Amino acid sequence: MPRLGKMAAAVASFACLVVLSSLQAYEATEVPHNQVNGIVHGKVYLNPKLSVPEEYKQIIWWFDESLKILTKKWNHSVSYRNDSFHKRHKLNYYENHTLEIDQLQKQDSGIFQIDVEDNQSKTTSERIQLNMYDRIPKPRMNVIIRANKDGWCNVTLDCIVNAIQVTYRWYKNEKDFVGKSSSTLDEQLKSESPASYKCVVSNPVSEETGLVYYRSPCTWDEKNSAVPLSLARKTADSILAFGFLLLVHNWV
Ligand SMILES: *[C@@H]1O[C@H](CO)[C@@H](O)[C@H](O)[C@H]1NC(C)=O
Ligand SMILES: *[C@@H]1O[C@H](CO)[C@@H](O)[C@H](O)[C@H]1NC(C)=O
Ligand SMILES: *[C@@H]1O[C@H](CO)[C@@H](O)[C@H](O)[C@H]1NC(C)=O
Ligand SMILES: *[C@@H]1O[C@H](CO)[C@@H](O)[C@H](O)[C@H]1NC(C)=O
Ligand SMILES: *[C@@H]1O[C@H](CO)[C@@H](O)[C@H](O)[C@H]1NC(C)=O
Repeated sequence: MPRLGKMAAAVASFACLVVLSSLQAYEATEVPHNQVNGIVHGKVYLNPKLSVPEEYKQIIWWFDESLKILTKKWNHSVSYRNDSFHKRHKLNYYENHTLEIDQLQKQDSGIFQIDVEDNQSKTTSERIQLNMYDRIPKPRMNVIIRANKDGWCNVTLDCIVNAIQVTYRWYKNEKDFVGKSSSTLDEQLKSESPASYKCVVSNPVSEETGLVYYRSPCTWDEKNSAVPLSLARKTADSILAFGFLLLVHNWV
C-alpha cells in the first residue's frame, strides 16, 4: 500500500511538472512583449525571457526599431555603439543577457528589442517596452474656505503638484477616503475634533504626500500644532504602557 501511495505521488508530481512546463511555454509564446517602468535619473534592468543558446552568432539590442545600442558576438566582448544613446547612458551587459541602463531620461520611453541570431542564422526577437516617469515632487496644500458661519467650516482642499499622469488618494486621520481620487476634496465640518488631511500623489514609480491640519472652528495649518502633538504623545505613552505589560507578562 505505501508503495502504491509513493507511486501515486510520483505520478502526481510528474503531471504537475508537465502542466508547469506547458504553462511556461504558453507564457513564452503568448506574452513576448513585456513592460518595465523607469524613473528619471534612475536605472532599469531589461531581462529578456527568450532562451539564448549556449553558442550563437550574435546578439543585437535595438531602441525604437532603428537605433542599434550594442552588438555581442559569441565569445567576444560587447561592442557598444558610439551613438547618442550610449553617450547619454551608462550601459552594462551581463552574462545572463540582462541589459542595465543607467542615468535614465524622460525620452527613453520606448521599445527595446533584442535579436538573437543563432548558428543556423535563425533570428529570435523579444521586445520590452520601457515607460518613463518623473519622480513626484512634494505637493503643496491649498485650503479654500467656501463658508465659515453657523458653526460650519466648508472647505475645498487642493493638492497641487507639478507632475502629469498621477493618481490621488486622500486620508483623514490616516483613514482612507474611499473613492476620492481627484486633486481636490470637499469637506463640511462642524466643530469637529482636530484632524489631519493627507493627500498621496503617486505614479507607478514614486509617491509623495501633502498634509494639512484642521482645528475647530475653521483653522487650517500646514504644521502639526498643539492638539495632534498631544495625540502623538498619547500613542507614545500607550506604546510604553504596552511594552511594560509585555515585560511584566514575560516576568511572570
Ligand atoms: C557558432 O557560431 C560561432 C560564431 O559564428 C562559432 O564560433 C561557434 O563555433 C559555432 N558553434 C557551433 C556549435 O556551431
Ligand atoms: C573563445 O575566444 C578565445 C580568445 O578570445 C579563444 O582562445 C577560444 O578558442 C574561443 N573559444 C571557442 C570555443 O572558439
Ligand atoms: C565617439 O564619437 C565621438 C564624437 O562623435 C568621438 O570623439 C570619439 O572618438 C568616438 N569614440 C570612439 C571609441 O569611436
Ligand atoms: C542577470 O544578472 C544581473 C546582475 O547580476 C541581475 O541583476 C539580473 O537580475 C539577472 N537577470 C536574470 C534574468 O536573472
Ligand atoms: C456647509 O455645508 C453644509 C453641509 O453640506 C450645509 O448644510 C451648510 O449650509 C453649508 N454652510 C454654508 C454656510 O454654506
